[in-house]
Amino acid sequence: MVAYDDDDDDDDGVVICGAAGGIGQPLSLLLKQSDLITHLALYDVVNAPGVAADLSHINTRSTVTGHGKDGMEEALQGAHTVVIPAGVPRKPGMTRDDLFKINAGIVRDLAEGVARHCPGAFVLVISNPVNSTVPIVCEVLKQHGVFNPKKVFGISTLDVVRSSRFASELSSAIDPKTTRVTVIGGHSGVTIVPVLSQIPGGFAQSLSKEQLDALTHRIQYGGDEVVKAKDGAGSATLSMAHAGARFTNAVLEATVAGKTGLVESTYVNLAADSESTAAFRAKTGLEYFAQDVEFGREGVSKIRSLPALSEHEQTLLDAAIPELKVNITKGTAFITDNS
Ligand code: NAD
Ligand code: LMR
Repeated sequence: MVAYDDDDDDDDGVVICGAAGGIGQPLSLLLKQSDLITHLALYDVVNAPGVAADLSHINTRSTVTGHGKDGMEEALQGAHTVVIPAGVPRKPGMTRDDLFKINAGIVRDLAEGVARHCPGAFVLVISNPVNSTVPIVCEVLKQHGVFNPKKVFGISTLDVVRSSRFASELSSAIDPKTTRVTVIGGHSGVTIVPVLSQIPGGFAQSLSKEQLDALTHRIQYGGDEVVKAKDGAGSATLSMAHAGARFTNAVLEATVAGKTGLVESTYVNLAADSESTAAFRAKTGLEYFAQDVEFGREGVSKIRSLPALSEHEQTLLDAAIPELKVNITKGTAFITDNS
């Protein structure tokens, strides 16, 4: 258990930016359950004080505060962790990249806030397109001289969650709760590469080519399934809140409580573990990639090497790399070309 702090720094304070949104509200509710959070600060350009007042009555440890449009500085001040689900979601017919126009600026401004008011914070990015918004955050932090690659994460956990669930629908031997599937690459369409061959018990090997192709496609385009079903009312919010809380809790368990052995697939800057990723970076030219990451007190403690890939998965990875490069360059250039 972590002791309460009485200094000015919000040592175990978590800020949700975009807290009144479709993801922000259920994510805040889930994080209100955490004993590792002493202060949950909810920031949004609309409705944050109302959401905060509501959540603040729940009898768990954290204090909840709400911060409206002009309250970004107050919300971020000295924070330990900043989770960013702020921005617009997709409508049917849109790609995640179509969101760049609006979300790039929103994420840039929030990253500026982080650099100014909580430069040592862990930054967990949900806003799409994640493949580009994470490089935006990193470039802003670099410009301010406060970039630590071990502390910035793109949350791609929903791909992991979907992989376990969808695989379990094909085999009763798979418990969706305890079967963790590594998902590498990025978080959009072909850049999502589920490593199903690593599921124990020869699951992937038991599938026909058609079944494997269909499962892979469903994981890669799971977001579209929800966008289509919501029919103009947005994209995944509840499953994303679940995935976001799972990932945030893992970061807090490692960085606040010092728990070891925690691993999640997440989209990171590969400089977070330059030694382990040197050969991969040299071979692919990628600076960002989703891969299994081990957490420690400082955030990323190790980026694991790529698992052995089946021929099918290698083909998927080969298709992911060029698209990832385009997404990364677009995010990076948004900051470097406009400064
Ligand atoms: P939403 O529109 O319901 O909520 C977004 C919230 O962000 C709104 O409350 C809005 O007021 C707020 N906001 C906008 N600009 C802001 C700013 N400058 N500062 C603070 N808050 C601001 O959308 P949603 O369904 O919650 O989705 C949010 C984002 O998450 C979208 O970009 C979506 O594509 C993305 N998403 C990512 C994943 C993932 O796996 N990483 C999954 C689902 C959705
Ligand atoms: C998802 O995977 O559900 C999210 O990235 C939202 C989307 O636009 O599909």
